[in-house]
Amino acid sequence: MRRFDSIVAHDPSPRPLTAKKRGSAGTLYPKVGMIKTPLCDRLGIEYPIVLGGMGSGTTPELVSAVSEAGGLGTLGMNARAAEDAAPLMAKVRQGTGKPFGVNFLLFNLDEAAFAATLAERPPVVAFAWAKPEQNLREYFQRAHDAGALVMYQTGSVPEARVALEAGAEVLIAQGSEGGGHVGLMGTLPLVPMMVDAVSPAPVLAAGGIADGRGLVAALALGAQGVLLGTRFLATPESPLHENFKAAILASDGHNTELTNIPDIGRGQLWPGAMARVIRNRFIRRWSGQDSALRAAQAEITRSLAEARKSGDVEEGLLMAGQDAGLIHDIVPAGEIVRRIAGEAEKVLSGLSGMGPG
Ligand SMILES: Cc1cc2nc3c(=O)[nH]c(=O)nc-3n(C[C@H](O)[C@H](O)[C@H](O)COP(=O)(O)O)c2cc1C
Repeated sequence: MRRFDSIVAHDPSPRPLTAKKRGSAGTLYPKVGMIKTPLCDRLGIEYPIVLGGMGSGTTPELVSAVSEAGGLGTLGMNARAAEDAAPLMAKVRQGTGKPFGVNFLLFNLDEAAFAATLAERPPVVAFAWAKPEQNLREYFQRAHDAGALVMYQTGSVPEARVALEAGAEVLIAQGSEGGGHVGLMGTLPLVPMMVDAVSPAPVLAAGGIADGRGLVAALALGAQGVLLGTRFLATPESPLHENFKAAILASDGHNTELTNIPDIGRGQLWPGAMARVIRNRFIRRWSGQDSALRAAQAEITRSLAEARKSGDVEEGLLMAGQDAGLIHDIVPAGEIVRRIAGEAEKVLSGLSGMGPG
């Protein structure tokens, strides 16, 4: 069996992340399986599986569970208060001694929260959604000065080139199948295009991936791993209301759509993105009603928050990817990491019999 890391691009300057050993973390370089890629060594993780930093869709429990299982958990910092940064990261570190990341949406970045987060020296800082006029180099340098490795997520190859030039070490190719705010390029063409554009810098594939088949496909496209959002929302550690988790399980993947309704309704200006959400009564009611939606912003912001709290799946906003159709159970996040890695190894074994000779 060929080891997969022998056929993906090698990073010429591996700089393994360090993390203090705590709890049952053991070594930073545990036993690796067939799906190990150079990025695993660089990040000090066992499996090339990353939890996307989904703002308030992530908790320290979810982040530490993913890292502790051998993936990389990422805590979403969007819309979090500066005073919450230190306690949140302390909680992550209570759950794991292994590397983890934090995520910031650049267009919406709160300077005080960013500074407070960097002061805690997270091993990885992931960014996404910059405004064109923002100076990426400045933000990346501050993360580097705090000892972090920088990732940048985008659905655009030209933007990935800009981020690389500004100092990002890892690019995340986010396809439009994904949940939440995404671009218009599908994962299948986007990943190899980004790999070609930024090589030898490593690329993670995101959008529409929820199992081991997706991981193997991403590796075949030249990615060095995957970043998952929706799959990790259907876990006990996810903060979503149980009704929302049930809606992901109930989805066959055909009932999501890309829409501006959530952002218009909440008066948010997202640079160049629409959001992929599950099509419910709220979305159907406001479809094609942009002007009325703008006029009702205050009421909509209030009612969406209320629906989120009460678990009203018809009147709330449920951001989810097309891969919701691949998600059939709520299982602990650590089990998802191990399951995806195990599935991927099986798929690889099956594929090895299909090669020449
Ligand atoms: C509920 C939700 C919230 C998200 N919030 C963020 C965020 O704050 N920052 C970010 O970079 N990406 C965010 N994303 C996108 C994810 O990082 C990732 O690209 C996406 O979930 C991958 O597609 P998948 O959902 O099909 O796995 C979010 C996704 C979801 C589903």
